[in-house]
Amino acid sequence: MTLLSTSDFEDLLGRRARQVEELLRTLLDDKPRDGEITRPAKLLAAMRHGVLNGGKRLRPFLVLESAKLFGPDGAEAVTVGAALECVHCYSLIHDDLPAMDDDDLRRGQPTVHRAFDEASAILAGDSLLTLAFDILTDDTSSRPRDVAASARRRLDLVRGLARAAGVGGMAGGQALDLAAEKATPDEAGIITLQAMKTGALIRFACEAGAIVADASAIDRERLAEFGSAIGLAFQLADDLLDVTAVPEVMGKATGKDAAAGKATLVALHGADWARRQLAGLVEQAHDLLEPYGESGRNLKSVATFIAERDR
Ligand code: IPE
Ligand code: IPE
Ligand code: MG
Ligand code: MG
Ligand code: MG
Repeated sequence: MTLLSTSDFEDLLGRRARQVEELLRTLLDDKPRDGEITRPAKLLAAMRHGVLNGGKRLRPFLVLESAKLFGPDGAEAVTVGAALECVHCYSLIHDDLPAMDDDDLRRGQPTVHRAFDEASAILAGDSLLTLAFDILTDDTSSRPRDVAASARRRLDLVRGLARAAGVGGMAGGQALDLAAEKATPDEAGIITLQAMKTGALIRFACEAGAIVADASAIDRERLAEFGSAIGLAFQLADDLLDVTAVPEVMGKATGKDAAAGKATLVALHGADWARRQLAGLVEQAHDLLEPYGESGRNLKSVATFIAERDR
């Protein structure tokens, strides 16, 4: 099978990003949702700054493309993708805070605490995390309504996102990551912390696509495993880019991991090892998609993009 060319892949990623951004813009509208009282202007502006600022929208892409493996209903996948992007943007806003990575630049712009203030950045993160679960309660599927099936899907999505984002997932991984600046973990320890801080949300993005499409338990597990492989690849590439890329292309500072003495696999084994490892993870990810034949092309292409990306 031939994968998408880099420019065709970037076009597709861009198209999917626009779909989800349209929804994110609506969700971050001035108008309160039912049950909300008011939306404080400064906090809302800080949230928009942290969300509507040109990310790659990789996690929504993964939800959409994973769902498409099993059926054509894209509407609900866009909604679920928006929820995951809210969690991701919250994680970035908090990751950049002085108490964590203390960064001034994100997606080519001042970080939220720089453009606003620390309290606004903390609260924008809190509000985005909460909004994500609000979004998941909406059933936007265009399939015939089956109340029991819809409720089951929503419970699986809420539980899965909570576990991917919480103490045993992203937030826990961030705690381990900060601890690793002081006491260097071994290779297994680094892999665990990366599987948590970055991998958990990417793994869940792929599984969520299968949940949205009512795929079988076997397919769900296969997509989750695919997500784990590309999640590890994603953080490995991020750590490699921290060494090899420049801030102008990345839209964020580089060279920070080494400066902070951060334990990464690149620090442990070097850039060449990391590139070989990336190639192995992509092969593993591609193999997991074999059962889906031609339908797996876009997801195979994203695995390759993740390993070879320059931003
Ligand atoms: C950056 O994620 C943070 C990590 C998990 C390494 P992305 O590279 O997906 O950031 P955006 O969303 O495109 O800005
Ligand atoms: C951040 O990892 C992962 C999360 C935000 C959960 P990094 O700290 O390496 O991400 P960047 O390099 O700041 O984007
Ligand atoms: Mg960090
Ligand atoms: Mg960081
Ligand atoms: Mg990084």
